[in-house]
Amino acid sequence: MTSSYHFDVLIIGSGAAGLTHALHLAEHAQVAVLSKDKLEEGASLYAQGGISVVLDQADSLHSHIDDTIRAGAGLCNEEAVRFTVEQARESIEWLIDQGVSFTKDGVTSETYHLTQEGGHSHRRIIHSADATGREVETTLLAKAKVHPNIHLFPHHIGIDLITRRKQFGDEDDRCLGSYALDIKSDTPCTFTAPVTVLATGGAGKVYLYTSNPDVSTGDGIAMGWRAGCDVANMEFIQFHPTCLYHPKAKSFLISEALRGEGAKLLLADGSQFMEDFHPQAELAPRDVVARAIDHEMKRLGDDCVYLDISHQSKEFIEEHFPTIHKRCLSFGIDMTEEPIPVVPAAHYTCGGLITDLHGQTDIKGLYAIGETAHTGLHGANRMASNSLLECLVFARSAAHHIKQQLEHGSKPPTIPTWDASRVRPAKEAISISHNWDELRRFMWDYVGIVRSNERLYKAQQRLNLLQQEIGDYYSQHRISSDLLELRNLANVAELIISSALQRKESRGLHYTLDYPETAPDHEAKDTIISGKS
Ligand code: FAD
Ligand code: SIN
Repeated sequence: MTSSYHFDVLIIGSGAAGLTHALHLAEHAQVAVLSKDKLEEGASLYAQGGISVVLDQADSLHSHIDDTIRAGAGLCNEEAVRFTVEQARESIEWLIDQGVSFTKDGVTSETYHLTQEGGHSHRRIIHSADATGREVETTLLAKAKVHPNIHLFPHHIGIDLITRRKQFGDEDDRCLGSYALDIKSDTPCTFTAPVTVLATGGAGKVYLYTSNPDVSTGDGIAMGWRAGCDVANMEFIQFHPTCLYHPKAKSFLISEALRGEGAKLLLADGSQFMEDFHPQAELAPRDVVARAIDHEMKRLGDDCVYLDISHQSKEFIEEHFPTIHKRCLSFGIDMTEEPIPVVPAAHYTCGGLITDLHGQTDIKGLYAIGETAHTGLHGANRMASNSLLECLVFARSAAHHIKQQLEHGSKPPTIPTWDASRVRPAKEAISISHNWDELRRFMWDYVGIVRSNERLYKAQQRLNLLQQEIGDYYSQHRISSDLLELRNLANVAELIISSALQRKESRGLHYTLDYPETAPDHEAKDTIISGKS
């Protein structure tokens, strides 16, 4: 038995972007929010460092804009950067109005503690100790749960967008909604709406080692691309320099804010090395720090490097980094006294579905916000703590844009229900889990921090075989969330590899041994892959 739902706006994803968007729209529209896991699960929940915003007298919007553009290595869209930075303060005030509590500086009851991270030339990161994302996500979710116009659908995974072109062969394309799988009851359902918003986060799970949670499988990017959207700059995958290195610590991040508070990166013999790589040393942009660590680990054959903040007092560490301190202790590492073993891991997807400043994609009725989108803010390398900011700013601007065109009481279009008549239940799950592992392993080995043509072609060959298998399996078997995610990961891997092969230079997060030089900035171009072909 399949279900069909119709709303004014369908939002796929309940992270910081999806919830912010829903709350901005809820006074004006009936809104559905789908989430493929528990509602709070997503990268937003695990964000540590904070959100960048100019609040300090000594800081300026101009400086935030300059730092973002510098980190973006010649590919930021200046209009998007200005737009985002100028709205940061209002976005933070909105969060505070929703009840989000940020760490105060103790100087006055009104002023906030600001920390610093790589690439920022001032202290401008507002935060809730080292669990900013949890504070934001849980506060917004509590608000959404009690709003009568927000209809939450946890454990519903979007499958494919429904568009006029795909459904009816109509040249005048428009998004009409999405098919989804109700994971708990294992039934496909149909969601229709005049406006659909993809807020499905990033794609870190395409790599074997990642700071991202399991839900970050690039679903929205893959769904949008399959529906015909243009995608930009997928070669720019950000590797966070410092994830905890411990056999039992799955994807645990050690925030850049530690380096902002003076933590040093050390080799196994206790020597520092970052000054050999960049004048800003530990606070150099992330691509530089991650590559430096990768270089030193490969040079010495070491499994990790170390991050040492033990110069700070125990009280300071417990107050500023309670989550990290507790988690390290649970693995027998006392960061107040000893260095933390760390390695780089895939962290952030700078590319995504191309949108304008309202979050609108090139398909009518389809928006993308948050990590799923490519707005032009991050260029070739995202600056720390600009991502949650982008979620807030674009979720709000998309809501304003949608409000102006809401069609209240729209009639649901006639859409065929999901057809499962020609597929059979899968007998075993091994081919899905094997392909998941294989894909993530070759992406890590061949499409990681340092690339080459030879490695990229090897990855492409393996991916072609996998895609053939996944396609055959998909056409013959009933869908499951693992199968849907695998198909999406394969699409995302294809986009990353093709984009990386197209870029004949090294820039920002894309470094290749075959083209180590960076072209002059006036020649810098986005890599655009059209979903229409
Ligand atoms: P997410 O928060 O990832 O939410 C995605 C949502 O989409 C989830 O609800 C998920 O279930 C849902 N979803 C996905 N696919 C589907 C589907 N097919 N169907 C239905 N639902 C789906 N950025 C900062 O600015 N500051 C920080 O301090 C910071 N720290 C970070 C720390 C960690 C460990 C990580 C991983 C990231 C960090 N980032 C930080 C990056 C930032 O957290 C993310 O970019 C941001 O939270 C993304 O928000 P989002 O709403 O776009 O996606
Ligand atoms: C961190 O706390 O280091 C993550 C910040 C970010 O990804 O922006």
